Amino acid sequence: MPTLEWIGKDKVLNHHQEVPFRILDKKYTFNAENSENMIIHGDNLLALKSLLPQYEGRIDCIYIDPPYNTGNEKWVYNDNVNDPRIKKWLGEVVGAEGEDLSRHDKWLCMMYPRLKLLHKLLSEKGVIFISIDDNEQANLKLICDEIFGVRNFIANICHKSRSSISNDLILSPNHNIVLFYAKNIDNVFARRRQFRMVADETEFKLDDNDGKGKYKLVPVDGPGGAAKGNPYYEFLGVTGYWRYSKDTMQELYEKGEIVKRKTSLSRKYYYSKAIEKGGKSYSTWWDDAGSATNGTNLIKDIFNEKTFDTPKPLDLLERIVKISTQSNSIVLDSFAGSGTTAQAVLNINKQDNGKRKFILVEMMDYADTITAERVKRVINGYGKDDKAVAGVPGDFTYYELGQPLFKDDKNLNEEVPEEEIRNYVYYMETKKPLDTETTDNPYLLGKNNDTAYYFYYKKDEITTLNHEFLSTINTKATEYIIYADKCVLAQEVMEKFNIVFKKIPRDITRL
Ligand SMILES: C[S@@+](CC[C@H](N)C(=O)[O-])C[C@H]1O[C@@H](n2cnc3c(N)ncnc32)[C@H](O)[C@@H]1O
Repeated sequence: MPTLEWIGKDKVLNHHQEVPFRILDKKYTFNAENSENMIIHGDNLLALKSLLPQYEGRIDCIYIDPPYNTGNEKWVYNDNVNDPRIKKWLGEVVGAEGEDLSRHDKWLCMMYPRLKLLHKLLSEKGVIFISIDDNEQANLKLICDEIFGVRNFIANICHKSRSSISNDLILSPNHNIVLFYAKNIDNVFARRRQFRMVADETEFKLDDNDGKGKYKLVPVDGPGGAAKGNPYYEFLGVTGYWRYSKDTMQELYEKGEIVKRKTSLSRKYYYSKAIEKGGKSYSTWWDDAGSATNGTNLIKDIFNEKTFDTPKPLDLLERIVKISTQSNSIVLDSFAGSGTTAQAVLNINKQDNGKRKFILVEMMDYADTITAERVKRVINGYGKDDKAVAGVPGDFTYYELGQPLFKDDKNLNEEVPEEEIRNYVYYMETKKPLDTETTDNPYLLGKNNDTAYYFYYKKDEITTLNHEFLSTINTKATEYIIYADKCVLAQEVMEKFNIVFKKIPRDITRL
């Protein structure tokens, strides 16, 4: 398989593993006591890492709309890549084509570790959509093939984003690409019907009030006529090349599903059947999913001014969320901008009473004043008089990136709340969230697969795994994994009770 090489690739290949794990600081919750919808202010490289303990393998739909690298964009990344050359390099403003020969290398260095983390967060049935234009689409396709697997590529969706012709170039660029990959193509292929259009109920206008529901009339002529080998016969006095054999036609007629109008025959196609079939497949050409202007106009409606330059149309995001999620899916957008993705999730939930959750990450300071503010207005309703739009049910919690869990990459950071450390340790052991309901001693983290996990940690004291500690254990398990600063138990005691000692912080696995 061809792979892409660029300057700095060797430095970023495993960089996602070196990114320090930070906790997320809850700032406020809007419209509820608690909410699983999240808006995180911070660089997504760090935020995605912070999401791993709770969300690895759990995200069904990722949509991202990263900077397209047009040459106009000012970047503020240095990405904490340890190599000083890359640090300096990524920190600089990216120049236009021809001015900055390493422009594409820099963009790839920025994207690669983020895509690696996104890949980890995707569930086994999950999919990712990435908006891009010609500046980077070819490069992006190759690194996605590398990260997601060439086999998991689904489509380059062509999204018509503008209608007006620009005379500035040789051809007017009127579309964006949305790269579409699966985490595992087999799982997505197996449920491919879900990605089809939902049959439009308004097309089914007829009803015989016989309990079979609404229907529309569709032709029974065989497509392609004689050339396609359709059977030719006379039925109800009409002769033609038909879609079905004479026996099937007779059966349909006896069920009352063939209708004769003057010299033509049609079939009743019921809405219930259309729902069962899941509607028609979408093509890869999306010229009806809203335009850049629609996106901008919506921002103006919500804020009364153009507060954000490059919002995506809501229609595009609603389609993506609708086709790729189930009613309890989690949707992630780590280049959130004005928060179109959150609005789409809330709207689709309202349409089908779903419980989808969203997670947005935005690094700029407008994460609160634009991204979160838009979501608040969508929930509360916005606009006046004939432009008033009703609110939709929803809530979210707003976070800032918090402290790193480890100081100097070695010791536990004492400023991090103990609960966060316990959560992290238990997740690294079991890939499960902490079990908070416990009647055992306060150091029990939880029990999983008949193994009990203890984290004997005190901020200002050295803890010792000894007989006294053992006597406080009430949980019955086949194996005990106990973290502490020291262990003085004899080997035979450890073997008798099946205890594994893990030293703090040395044996805490790093993400
Ligand atoms: C093209 S805009 C996304 C627009 C969005 N789809 C919408 O409909 O409003 C890209 C956004 O990603 C943000 N961004 C860029 N790099 C980021 C990073 N490393 N972490 C988090 N956000 C980032 C930018 O600040 C910008 O708001």
